[in-house]
Amino acid sequence: MKGTAPVLTLDGPGGAGKGTISRLVAERLGWHLLDSGALYRLTALAAQRHGVALDDEPGLERLASRLDVVFVAEEQSTRILLEGDDVSRAIRTEQMGDAASRVAALNGVRQGLLQRQRDFRQAPGLVADGRDMGTVVFPEAELKVFLTASPEERARRRHLQLQQAGVDASLSSLLKEIQARDARDMQRSVAPLKPADDAITLDTTSLSIPEVVERLTEWLAQRGLAPAT
Ligand code: DC
Repeated sequence: MKGTAPVLTLDGPGGAGKGTISRLVAERLGWHLLDSGALYRLTALAAQRHGVALDDEPGLERLASRLDVVFVAEEQSTRILLEGDDVSRAIRTEQMGDAASRVAALNGVRQGLLQRQRDFRQAPGLVADGRDMGTVVFPEAELKVFLTASPEERARRRHLQLQQAGVDASLSSLLKEIQARDARDMQRSVAPLKPADDAITLDTTSLSIPEVVERLTEWLAQRGLAPAT
């Protein structure tokens, strides 16, 4: 049922492992998954396609509130269609990440995407991945976790991910980009990146992905939201 299903919010900076971890937890529990960063990336891509400038707030707000997007859940990934085109890869570039972080700083864009995000809350539950899931979008979530890792470790993980995708990138430029993006996401006046007052912070710098998934599942089980492991 919409609105009453339990929510696990996973917020934190880019590269902390939220994407992979949210997917694994959602799969394990059979819960829905909200990749809210994808919505900001899609808004940035739609702006590029429609010739809307990244500082045209009314234009971007209009785009955000009317995004024609379909998320198709597939095994181990989600196919994302924008106006019927498969843009699953196109939205994952560093350039689109940077543009997403710029459009995400605009209040109108955030408002335009708010209800769409809340609509993902459906039975049996939702894992919501983003920056403001616990603070703004689902303030009454049953479990809020803020995932962090050192900037160096996040740059290393991103580098590895890009290498595996056959993309060349220097570790030092990735570290600089990560630090610039963190600063923009944390310093913006609307919905800045920060842990909710009632969030548990988990530093994943020296934890493996299965260890983090295990920890989250345990916390959910302690709250009666997942079967005990
Ligand atoms: O998680 P990601 O890298 O796909 O997110 C891309 C950008 O979108 C990120 O730099 C900040 C923004 N974002 C946001 O402001 N709020 C969210 N809930 C999710 C992402």
